[in-house]
Amino acid sequence: MKWTFALCFCLILEYVQCSNPNILCIMEHCGMQSTKCLADEGCRSAMVCITGCGTNNQTCLFDCIYSYEDDVFDEFMKCASTDHQCISNDPPNPPVVCHPPQQVMSNFTIDLLKGSWYIVKGLNPIYDCFDCQITTYQPSSMDKTVYNVFEKFDVKTVQGGIRHRSVNETVVQASGGIFNYTSTQMGHDTHSEWRIVHVGNGNAFLLVYYCGSITADYFYEGSVVYSRTPTLTTDQLVELVDAFKQHGFDYSKYCTPKTQNCGS
Ligand SMILES: *[C@@H]1O[C@H](CO)[C@@H](O)[C@H](O)[C@H]1NC(C)=O
Ligand SMILES: *[C@@H]1O[C@H](CO)[C@@H](O)[C@H](O)[C@H]1NC(C)=O
Ligand SMILES: *[C@@H]1O[C@H](CO)[C@@H](O)[C@H](O)[C@H]1NC(C)=O
Ligand SMILES: *[C@@H]1O[C@H](CO)[C@@H](O)[C@H](O)[C@H]1NC(C)=O
Repeated sequence: MKWTFALCFCLILEYVQCSNPNILCIMEHCGMQSTKCLADEGCRSAMVCITGCGTNNQTCLFDCIYSYEDDVFDEFMKCASTDHQCISNDPPNPPVVCHPPQQVMSNFTIDLLKGSWYIVKGLNPIYDCFDCQITTYQPSSMDKTVYNVFEKFDVKTVQGGIRHRSVNETVVQASGGIFNYTSTQMGHDTHSEWRIVHVGNGNAFLLVYYCGSITADYFYEGSVVYSRTPTLTTDQLVELVDAFKQHGFDYSKYCTPKTQNCGS
């Protein structure tokens, strides 16, 4: 027991060094969660990996989390960060500021999201560029104005493998073409606003902008192109590039995630 605590202390101390530690706070409120974390390979590996990232390297931080995150890690983070603020989340530096496009497809309604979409283009390398991103929307059985969102994606892990991950969100329509998403990710409550900027001919694809936050000063921003099919046709690409231009979005900054041979 004694060495467990000592080791636990060290790991957590090292980890939270970069994010304003409050060891006493963790010991007092999240002793059980940190002990569990140490005993759990995924959670422990995540901590060790994060410790190796140094400060202010979001790419490294998220690579570690996506590679190792599990329920034990999420519970620790929920306790230490969300519930008791023992760990502060340093916002990205320079800070992310939302730039919501003002022109949205105001006649776009939530039912048009129903079904599955491939992410064929993505802007933010941390969030939008995973392979095999397939997102499915279904109305909730309790309340038809709320949709459940099931986001599948493949992570290239720091160990060199592939890990199938998923995130569940819920979404409601805020107004025409504007949607509010909420979820719990990595033990944090996240809120984001999505804006439908362009609707492809026949509702075949969507150009979307989003910006969200996990705390009052921690924002993330991105943009994706949803498509009903794994790839866009030549005509659809022409239409898309034109929409990018119209809205002042830079097509060359977007990645093209893998959408084929994704398995089940
Ligand atoms: C951030 O971490 C990644 C590895 O995850 C590394 O390739 C990159 O060089 C790091 N960036 C900086 C600025 O240290
Ligand atoms: C929505 O508005 C756009 C123009 O802003 C129009 O091209 C499109 O046909 C409209 N869609 C519907 C379903 O009315
Ligand atoms: C996420 O959504 C999927 C598909 O709708 C469902 O099977 C799964 O139970 C959900 N997971 C959580 C944690 O809610
Ligand atoms: C959507 O989010 C905004 C900003 O947080 C909030 O003001 C608005 O009430 C929300 N709308 C719905 C329908 O939840």
